Amino acid sequence: MSDILEVNNLAMKFDQELIFENLKFKLKQGSMTALLGPNGTGKTTLINILMKMLVPTAGNFKFDSNTRLGYVPQFRNINPEYPLSIEAFVGLNAPLIKNRKIKQAIKAQLKETNLYQIRNTRMGEASGGQKQRAYLAQALLENPNMIILDEATASLDPLAKDELMKLIRHLNQKHKITVLFVTHDVPLAKKYMQDYLYLNHHKIEQGSMAQFEEAYD
Ligand SMILES: Nc1ncnc2c1ncn2[C@@H]1O[C@H](COP(=O)(O)OP(=O)(O)OP(=O)(O)O)[C@@H](O)[C@H]1O
Ligand SMILES: [Mg+2]
Repeated sequence: MSDILEVNNLAMKFDQELIFENLKFKLKQGSMTALLGPNGTGKTTLINILMKMLVPTAGNFKFDSNTRLGYVPQFRNINPEYPLSIEAFVGLNAPLIKNRKIKQAIKAQLKETNLYQIRNTRMGEASGGQKQRAYLAQALLENPNMIILDEATASLDPLAKDELMKLIRHLNQKHKITVLFVTHDVPLAKKYMQDYLYLNHHKIEQGSMAQFEEAYD
C-alpha cells in the first residue's frame, strides 16, 4: 500500500511555547489510525495544521495528490433551538442551489449514516449520536477518501459510540476511506483502529494499536 500522508520534522510553537517538534510519520492508504495523547499535547493543533488552518513553525507534510479530505472538528456547539433539520444541516456543505444530483448525494449520505428516517428532525433536538452522524454525513458529502475526526465520540454513551465506530469501520472497509481518529478512549481505539500515533512530551510515537500500552496515558 502506498502512503496517503507523509509528515516530516513538523514543529509548532505558540509564542515561545513549544507544542511539538520533529514529528515524523507516514499514514498508509486505507489505514485506520487513532491519534492519542493527554490533554493539551497538540493533537488538535496537528490536525489544524494538516487541514491547513494553521501554519507550522517548521517542517512540512504532503498528502498524496488524489487525496480528498473530510473533517469532523472537535468543538461543536449546537443550540437546542437550532432551527435546521438534519437534512438541511447535512446539505450545508453543498452549494446553496441544490440540483437533483446534489439532492441525491445528500439522500445517499443520510442513508449511509442511518439518518434518512429522521431527516426532518431538527438538529437541535437530535441526540448526541445523531448529531455526530450528521457531522460525519456533512463531511462525506464531498466524497472524501480520507476522514479526520477529532474526539467524535467524546460525549456519546457506549451504544452511540459503537454505532459511530461501526459506521467508520464500514466506510473504511467498503469505501476504502483512510481514517485518522483523535480520541482519549483507548479501549474503543483498540476495538476499532489498527494503528496508533501517540503524542506526548513534544514527540510522536507510532505503532500497532494492539501493542499500545495503557500505561502511556
Ligand atoms: N491558537 C492558539 N494560540 C495559542 N496557544 C494555543 C492555540 N491553540 C492551542 N494552543 C495551546 O496549544 C496546546 C495544545 O493544544 P491542543 O488543543 O492542540 O491540544 P489537544 O491535544 O488537542 O488537547 P485535548 O485533548 O484537550 O483536545 C495547549 O497548551 C493549548 O493551550
Ligand atoms: Mg483537541
